[in-house]
Order: sequence, then structure tokens, then C-alpha cells
Amino acid sequence: MLTISNLNFAYGGVTALTDVSLQAPAGAITCVMGRNGVGKTTLMQNIMGLLKPASGSIGLDGVDQVGRAASARAKSGIALVPQGRMIFPKLTVEENLRVGLQANPNGLKAVPERVYETFPILKEFVARKGGDLSGGQQQQLAIARAMVGEPKVMLLDEPTEGIQPNIIQEIGRVLKTLASEGMAVVLVEQYLDFVKEFGDGFAVMNRGAVVARGAIAELSAEIERDYLGV
Ligand SMILES: Nc1ncnc2c1ncn2[C@@H]1O[C@H](COP(=O)(O)OP(=O)(O)OP(=O)(O)O)[C@@H](O)[C@H]1O
Ligand SMILES: [Mg+2]
Repeated sequence: MLTISNLNFAYGGVTALTDVSLQAPAGAITCVMGRNGVGKTTLMQNIMGLLKPASGSIGLDGVDQVGRAASARAKSGIALVPQGRMIFPKLTVEENLRVGLQANPNGLKAVPERVYETFPILKEFVARKGGDLSGGQQQQLAIARAMVGEPKVMLLDEPTEGIQPNIIQEIGRVLKTLASEGMAVVLVEQYLDFVKEFGDGFAVMNRGAVVARGAIAELSAEIERDYLGV
């Protein structure tokens, strides 16, 4: 269980997060929504430890992570699939996946077969350079790399951005499976249909603050109109 309480963050003098609180229970997909520039990525980077909040707490199973390095958080079970995927283009698929081993708490020495079973295309392209994969395949690689660390919490920052529909569906099914096995999945997403199909809970952000939250069934037309429409 990930519990964020009253998180505040600013880029220099520019406030980006204001008193953000969010709970992401194990076994569920919690969607963080909101228009461009409302602070979704900033929130994910604070949770991962890539940015340091001015105040507030980030609890993982009751242990506050603020003040701990990103590498320590990764070892404790937080993984980030970043916006734009950020795979290593010059490394092969397998080498990219091996990077994920560093975060594995069980000292795993090889990429688990399960990852290739989940994304068979990565098995097929195991020796191919990351940069030679399609956008959708790179997204699968980024998710697979996070899976290698066997995290308790997986943060995904707009994984459907620029991805073809059949791979979007496959990603949704994988996230559902991971959640059903007990992972807390935090999904930053602007694609409403995807959220409605796969999400369990939601939090909507606007100008750095959470302005609505609830179960996916409570995502109303008013919320969509006020905070999610273009
Ligand atoms: N490095 C930075 N320095 C200064 N301001 C920044 C920086 N990164 C982001 N911001 C600002 O902080 C605010 C939140 O940005 P953030 O990237 O978290 O939004 P987002 O919700 O992830 O947007 P998107 O949907 O476009 O990815 C925006 O106003 C943005 O311009
Ligand atoms: Mg973003």
C-alpha cells in the first residue's frame, strides 16, 4: 500500500504540487488523471525519489520514503515506468531488462522467464537494440524492465501515449494481472476509455492539487467536463 500525505513540491519558486494526498492499495489499479501540465509526472518523480518534496510524506507499507534515495526506494519495491519510456536505445532488449535486476530484492541474477512469457515479442527480439523497437514494443520493454525488479508498487506515467490500440489492450491486461497478484499499480493516464476499462480507483489533478477522487464508477460526466475534457 502506497500512502501519500500532504505532499508539496515547487520547481524553484513555481509551485507544482499542493497538499497532494493519494492512496494506492495493493491489488488495485489507481489512476491519476488530469490535463497536460497539472503535475502528474512531478508527482510520480517525487514518489520515485527523483524530486524531493518541500513537505509531506510518502509511505510504503507504513515506512516513510521521503529522504531515501531513488535506488533505495527501488530496492524497497517502488518502480517507475517513465513518461516517454526511457529505455536505453543502444542496449539490446536483454541488456535493458538486466538493468531492472539491480532493483530486485531477492538478488535475482537473470531475467525471469515470466517476463518473456508476459511479453513474447521481447523474447523474439531479445538481441535487438532497444532503439530499433516500435514505440509500443519499447513501452512493453519499459514495463518488463520494471517487472524484473518484482516491485510492490508500479508507477506508470502515460503508458498508452502514442501506442497502437492492440498493444494498449495488451498493456491493460498485463496491469490487471499484476494487480490481481497483489501489486499496487499507479497509472497516470489521460486516455479515459482505458481508465474506465482497466482502472479501479481514480484521483483527478488540477493545477497541482487533487480535485476529485473515488472508485472508477464514480467518475462522473461533470468531472470529465471540468477537469479532463480538452
Ligand atoms: N523542470 C521543470 N522546471 C520548471 N517547471 C517545470 C519543470 N517540469 C515541469 N514543470 C512545470 O510543472 C508543472 C507540472 O508539470 P508535469 O510535467 O508534472 O505535468 P504533467 O501533468 O505530467 O503534464 P503532461 O500531461 O503534459 O505530461 C507544469 O506547469 C510544468 O510546466
Ligand atoms: Mg507528464
